[in-house]
This record gives sequence, structure tokens and C-alpha cells, in this order.
Amino acid sequence: MTAQDFTLKSYHTNIEKGSVKWASPSNIALVKYWGKKKDQIPENPSISFTLSNCKTITEISYSKKEGKGFSFDIYFEGEKNEAFKPKVQTFFERIEIYMPFLKDYHFKIETSNTFPHSSGIASSASGMSAIALCLMSIEQELSINKMEVEESKAYFNQKASFLARLGSGSACRSIEGELVVWGENKSVAESSDLYGVKFEGEVHSNFNNYQDTILLVDKGEKQVSSTVGHQLMFGHPFAKERFVQAHDNLAKLKTILASGDLNEFVKIVESEALTLHAMMMTSMPYFILMKPNTLEIINKIWTFRERTDSKVCFTLDAGANVHVLYPESEKETILEFIKNELVSYCQNGHFICDQIGLGANQI
Ligand code: DP6
Repeated sequence: MTAQDFTLKSYHTNIEKGSVKWASPSNIALVKYWGKKKDQIPENPSISFTLSNCKTITEISYSKKEGKGFSFDIYFEGEKNEAFKPKVQTFFERIEIYMPFLKDYHFKIETSNTFPHSSGIASSASGMSAIALCLMSIEQELSINKMEVEESKAYFNQKASFLARLGSGSACRSIEGELVVWGENKSVAESSDLYGVKFEGEVHSNFNNYQDTILLVDKGEKQVSSTVGHQLMFGHPFAKERFVQAHDNLAKLKTILASGDLNEFVKIVESEALTLHAMMMTSMPYFILMKPNTLEIINKIWTFRERTDSKVCFTLDAGANVHVLYPESEKETILEFIKNELVSYCQNGHFICDQIGLGANQI
């Protein structure tokens, strides 16, 4: 597929109004996307677990309008929200060539999250993928050339991911589950820089219902946004090596997913998390998103692993919160460990229990 293949060529112009609704999950990367080229093309491949409970629910009502330009309103948790408008405006500008009907309608976008907004959890992946999916449902309503069911489903997901990527890179990995790869690489033949693909390789039963408990260390606004962080990979002294490393780690992870070797899984996942933050600390300007409690938690996890035969490990996104990953078989033990030893490092003792999920669904 090329970008041109995603352009809607003809559509009905006599449809006055309608509404569509989707719930789309967040995802957590195991091999991290950090660094991008023009048009949201990633510098390296990434792979993520789709989450199950942390979701954005978005309804878009559309009605025919006169006049030029985009027209939309956003309501977040029932209240009109101006702060999200510039991001959606940029998104519409980027995707207009693929969805020529965008200027024909006024869109009322009503959105809410299943997790607290102030949790410091990145909602751009779930938020942007939910909008992309709604727009795809509208495209399907307007479309003249209806496809066969199977072909249409594959195209729908692929284009939804393609659009979501143009909203926020990691959002393209939130359409499907349970594991999604984004970025061209040799290990996953069907992989693409343009959209995420469901990982179709062998996955050992050790990863069934893999758990992710998100420890909310810091709920404040990040000092440096991901978008700025990605930019700082330009001219970064270690960028070239990092991008090569991500390809290697993805290849290794593919083998680990098949064998179910959790000791090796822990090594790759924790190394990826620390490398991501090492890139931040060694860019110019440099910055640190981890907080003292992030390090306290990491050390506690390491000590716990030494004294038990647990396979619990951590990963981080671009912030201070810690994602604690563990197999379902350890659910009770790890929740005890979290309550006894880690909760005190969370802001107001808050954490969110989640697990690997199957992707977005229409409501
Ligand atoms: C650290 O997808 O938020 O979470 O494409 O600029 O919207 P933009 O960035 P974004 O970057 C997320 C990076 C990450 C790692 C990852 O999810 O792979």
C-alpha cells in the first residue's frame, strides 16, 4: 500500500447527517518509537501491547454545512473544550487529501476517557485512534464503492491506522490487538511505516492476558512533549545506533514471543524503557522525565525479582509513570507486592489495573 491508495475517490454528496461512536484503547510499547521523519514516518520500528481498560470513547455527529474550511467543536467529558482544537485542526489538515468530505460537514466531537484525565497517561494514542475510527465509519457511510466484507474490514483497519498515525504516531498501534508492529523491518514481512499491523507471529501462552498495572507517579503536565522529544533525535549523537538497536530488539522479541522466554523478555523490555529515557538525557537540550519515585519503584522491582522467581518487569513511556508488566499467573502475588511496596510511591496512592487487549470496537 502507498499513501495514495488511501484517498477516497468518490462519495455520496446527498447524505445530510449522522453519527458514529467508537471506543479505542491506549497501548504500551515494548520496543519504543522515538524519532520521526517528515509526515509522521518513524525512524525505527516499534511493537506494542494494546491495552484493554484504558480507552477513549468518542462520538462524532456530522451535519452538512455550507462554506469553506473545517468546522468542528470538541466536548471533553461533557464540557466544550478549546485546548484540543489546534491538535485536531492540524490532524484534519494532514488527512484532508485522503478524506475530501471533511470540509462538507460540521463535526461535533464528544469524547471521554475511561481513565482520569489528570492521570498523566498519554491519551493521544487512544484519543487520535478513536477520532480516526469515527471518521472511517463516516467514510464508509458516504462511500459509493462498497467492498466485500473481508476486504472492507482489512482496508478499514489499515486506513484507520494510517490516519491515526497522522494524528499521533503511537495512535496507529491502537486499532487492533493484541500486539501491533509499526515501522518497516525485516522481522515482520507485512510491516509498514504508514500504518500499524497486527503481529501475526507465534505468541506463547505465557503472554495470554499479560498484565499491565500503571503506577501513577506524577499526574502533572510533562515538561517536554513527545513531539519535542522526537525532534531532538535529529542530530542526536546516538541516534543512528539507537535506530539500529530497535530493529535488533524487535527481531529478538519476535523469537522471545514465540518461545515464551520471560527472562529474555524482561531484559529487552526494561532495556528499551531505559534506552528511551537515556535518549532524552543525552539530547541537546537534555531533559529528565523520570521522578525520584520512578527510580524507587524500578529498584523495588529489581529487588523483588532477586528474592523471588518472579518475571515482573517495568516499562516507561514519555513520563514518570511506571507500567508494571507481569504474566497472568503472577496476578495475585504482584498485586500484593504493589500494594505493600509500591503504592506509597504513587501520587495519592493511585494506580490503574489493565491487561493486554484486542483493540478498538464500535459502539
Ligand atoms: C515514548 O506518539 O506521542 O510513547 O507522533 O509526536 O504524537 P507523536 O508522538 P507520540 O510518541 C510516543 C512515544 C513513546 C513510545 C511509543 O509509544 O512507542
